[in-house]
Amino acid sequence: MLAERTGAINLGQGFPDTDGPAVMAEAAIRAIRDGHNQYPPSLGTPDLRRAIAAHQQRFYGLGYDPDSEVLVTAGATEAIAAAVLALCEPGDEVVVFEPAYDSYAPAVAMAGATRRVVPLRPPSWGFDPDELAVAITPRTRLLLLNSPHNPTGKVFDADELACIARVCVEADLLVVTDEVYEHLVFEGRHVPLASLPGMGERTLTISSAGKSFSFTGWKIGWVCGPAPLVAAVRTVKQFLTYANGAPFQPAVAVGLGLPDAYFAEAASDLALRRDRLCDGLLGAGFEVFRPMATYFVMTDIRAFGDEDGVDFCRRLPDRCGVVAVPASPFYEDPGAGRSLVRLAFCKQLAVIDEAVRRLARLGPA
Ligand SMILES: Cc1ncc(COP(=O)(O)O)c(C=O)c1O
Repeated sequence: MLAERTGAINLGQGFPDTDGPAVMAEAAIRAIRDGHNQYPPSLGTPDLRRAIAAHQQRFYGLGYDPDSEVLVTAGATEAIAAAVLALCEPGDEVVVFEPAYDSYAPAVAMAGATRRVVPLRPPSWGFDPDELAVAITPRTRLLLLNSPHNPTGKVFDADELACIARVCVEADLLVVTDEVYEHLVFEGRHVPLASLPGMGERTLTISSAGKSFSFTGWKIGWVCGPAPLVAAVRTVKQFLTYANGAPFQPAVAVGLGLPDAYFAEAASDLALRRDRLCDGLLGAGFEVFRPMATYFVMTDIRAFGDEDGVDFCRRLPDRCGVVAVPASPFYEDPGAGRSLVRLAFCKQLAVIDEAVRRLARLGPA
């Protein structure tokens, strides 16, 4: 809203300013023309479910039955909410790494459950295994993991995933993973937690077409996991949206079948933008935590003599014509991320360059 009102460059929200593959847009248009305009099956169209299962096999060697272990949702957002509502009861606890994507806390609250947070600390955004162990109690029902991670751009590495898997098996937890940035990785390798020993039978893996194909407005997401857990999520989805996005589903099936080169190019193209924005921010005086993945870079604003990201971001459009978002809403205790600010680089290079020119006017304190 601030960007619209002030005409500032919007590096706040994470949406690309160019569309995804034309072949997908054409498939959606064709689907509308061919009459795919009524309720699709509640589970999702068979073609898309088969394409999702084939994608999990192709990239990760994970096998899912498209008829009982895959569910199409209204974006990852519905998948997350429906999974938490399906698996948690009032009084249950959900372990979440923090900072955390902003839909997690409301989803947990809507289920009547409580969050237990494990901090990720800059500069590497690692976590302390002891803090994870302490967060698990006899009431813990679920661990919610986001990797690659928004807002930090962290990709959890093999040791961290093994540690999380060990804890989940020992405490017999259910797990929901949010992997919407699975293909936007510049360093390291994305490994689904479900592929670790003992995890497949307890993990719901969530992803979405929005980020992988730059069609965030289509809101086609999915859940893969053991049939009884997917059935529970479907039961909740039945009364949230029932079904969604009929003409977009065949188009996403086309996208999931694109050759490896498409996915590699999408990541390398975004890596270029990451470097352009990060280098520009460093030049402008920000402390920059260069991300390994995603659309986002986290910065610390204390070099400007500012302590409060909310205040900094409110004033930024008037000071230099750029919108960014404070990181504090990603924390349970807003004080924890007070001096952190997130900027998005999923924008055209010319837009990033102009934003950098404007931010350079800020000048260090
Ligand atoms: C970590 C994370 N999960 C989920 C979503 C939402 O995905 P969708 O648009 O598919 O609902 C986002 C969008 O920004 C995100 O960053």
